[in-house]
Amino acid sequence: VSAGRLKIGVFDSGFGGLTVLRALLPLLPEAEFLYLGDTARLPYGSKSRATIVRYALSSTRFLLDQGADFLVIACNTATALALEEIRGATTVPVLGVIETGANEAASWSKTREILVIGTDATIASHAYAAACRERGLRALEKACPLLVPLVEEGWVDHPVTVEVIRIYLTELLEQAQEAELDPDTLVLGCTHYPLLRPIMEAAVAPAIRVIDSAQATASQAAQLLAGHRGLTGDRNTSGRCRFFATDSVSKFRRLGARFLGGAINEVELVDLGG
Ligand code: DGL
Repeated sequence: VSAGRLKIGVFDSGFGGLTVLRALLPLLPEAEFLYLGDTARLPYGSKSRATIVRYALSSTRFLLDQGADFLVIACNTATALALEEIRGATTVPVLGVIETGANEAASWSKTREILVIGTDATIASHAYAAACRERGLRALEKACPLLVPLVEEGWVDHPVTVEVIRIYLTELLEQAQEAELDPDTLVLGCTHYPLLRPIMEAAVAPAIRVIDSAQATASQAAQLLAGHRGLTGDRNTSGRCRFFATDSVSKFRRLGARFLGGAINEVELVDLGG
């Protein structure tokens, strides 16, 4: 790790990982952040493993070239399909959102049976189920592919979105019943779902607790980095984030502000190829 302020590289397929950055900022007030959204190639959630690995490797290489000392893979799909390859390509520590989501579920669940929702690719990989199994949990997983476009449309409290969520979660709860599971936790295994958290909570309350992998990742990153020498700089919060996108910077600023919960002033365009 280089001298000076710690530089944390945060990678996502697009804007959604800004929910992770938003959770990281208050917990690591002395770090610098480099955020890359691979907006030219999103969505990752509907693509094959080989393509996701290729995109994730070129994206993380870019962040390493910018001097990142620590990588947070904020995208659930990239974590599910490419975490090992990313770790194999660097010596800096790499934290993915799935292990942190599974850790959080393991610390909360009493019944040891949980539900996970995410993109098609994340769910088809069964990465959450495997991470849960390692922690003594049984996970029932479901892909909810309509939710990412609904969030990107800004329909975070639209009646259509409420109904889509009701349908997905009803199906999931019926499957849990058929499998004779007694889940007490729902893991939001996609960067976009934290924006839908109030609707999810209303749909499953009070029996099931909702865990947001963005929040879990931020708190575990802060624990890992506590006391780090590169975190002793000034506490000035302005100008400590640089944003990079592989497609329209104006779209990134506009959509990204919703995920970050604040204005994004400057975005740098980068070309990572096709
Ligand atoms: N970032 C992705 C995830 O968390 C969702 C968007 C996409 O499919 O690229 O799975």
